[in-house]
Amino acid sequence: MSNVKESLETSLITASTRGDYEQKTGAVNVPIYASSTFHQESFDSFGPYDYSRSGNPTRDALEKTIAELEGGTRGFAFASGIAAISSALMLLSSGDHLVVTEEVYGGTYRFITEVLPRFGIDHTFADFTNAEEVEKAIRPNTKLLYIETPANPRLGITDIEAIVALAKANDCLTFLDNTFMTPLYQRPLDLGVDIVLHSATKFLSGHSDIIAGLAVTKDEELGSKLGFIQNSFGAILGAQDSFSLIQGIKTMGARLSQSTESAKKLANYLNSHPLIEEVLYPGLSTHPGYEIHARQAKSPGAVLSFCLPDRETAKAFVENLQIPVFAVSLGGVESILSYPATMSHAAIPKEEREKRGISDGLLRFSVGLEHIDDLIADFDQALIIASNIKQKVGI
Ligand SMILES: Cc1ncc(COP(=O)(O)O)c(C=O)c1O
Repeated sequence: MSNVKESLETSLITASTRGDYEQKTGAVNVPIYASSTFHQESFDSFGPYDYSRSGNPTRDALEKTIAELEGGTRGFAFASGIAAISSALMLLSSGDHLVVTEEVYGGTYRFITEVLPRFGIDHTFADFTNAEEVEKAIRPNTKLLYIETPANPRLGITDIEAIVALAKANDCLTFLDNTFMTPLYQRPLDLGVDIVLHSATKFLSGHSDIIAGLAVTKDEELGSKLGFIQNSFGAILGAQDSFSLIQGIKTMGARLSQSTESAKKLANYLNSHPLIEEVLYPGLSTHPGYEIHARQAKSPGAVLSFCLPDRETAKAFVENLQIPVFAVSLGGVESILSYPATMSHAAIPKEEREKRGISDGLLRFSVGLEHIDDLIADFDQALIIASNIKQKVGI
């Protein structure tokens, strides 16, 4: 390892090739070790790898990379973000209770509300933008406070240190879904969080080509426990996808920085547009979590949400936008527009959704790498059509 102190942007490029195997060959890319099993040296002395569910050199390089980027000691790669999240939740036991942010990714909501109760693990949702509300939800058997910040899809901000302090005072763990920020912009382990989780399908891979999840721990004992679950549950990431993800991580610095600059411009444009009722972006000083986010993260990131008056105007806007992809997901090189009510948050019943501010006019936008002037021109023409629709139906 070099003795030059690297910035995270540099580590994105260098971290994956620190292992022995690359130093032997000089390959600048970690090879894809397409092997399920490994020949053992002798009858009673085994090598570092035996079977790829338990460990694979390509996956290992990825796991070490994410551990380094997050400032942890152990990284784990899973077959999807939700596999990482559900595997981490398997650290809980029957009789345990968790408090979870009410603004949470729909798939996490589904696992917590429909799967965990069958194993005797109970939950309470709380408004994590208000630490007092979280405290009120803690019970004697609470073992975990589950954070997502910025949260999906309204970009709500949790004060990470306040929740970590609550967790420590109540002998609980904290998990944090860091998908929207990536370690480049927010490092929750440095703030005392126990497990950082990612849908690496998003910014980390960056090309909308793979489904992957990552988890990182700092504490050795917790890392061993999660490693045991990863092997027992078996939802590991394959070698080919581990390779793709390592390649994606290398370009993330440039991607995220361009997309974020564009997101800031788009947020300002939308904020002054008469048809837009609300812009939700932690980079706007009007955002309720603006100051807390600025304290705990380096940047507002490349995802924003905004509200049109109703379903009809949202529909007209979506149907007339030409450049972005209308799809679930985020974090790709292409801008992705999604409609949380029927996409990412479809697993949440309508009544619950509305209570959480996921209205029929809410759209989420993940800014890609297209030229920002083109994106704004496209938004402009689609919003004119949406405004006309609104006037015609006299809403
Ligand atoms: C914030 C967040 N967490 C977790 C997930 C789940 O990840 P995956 O789709 O990779 O399973 C998603 C997916 O949209 C997400 O947006």
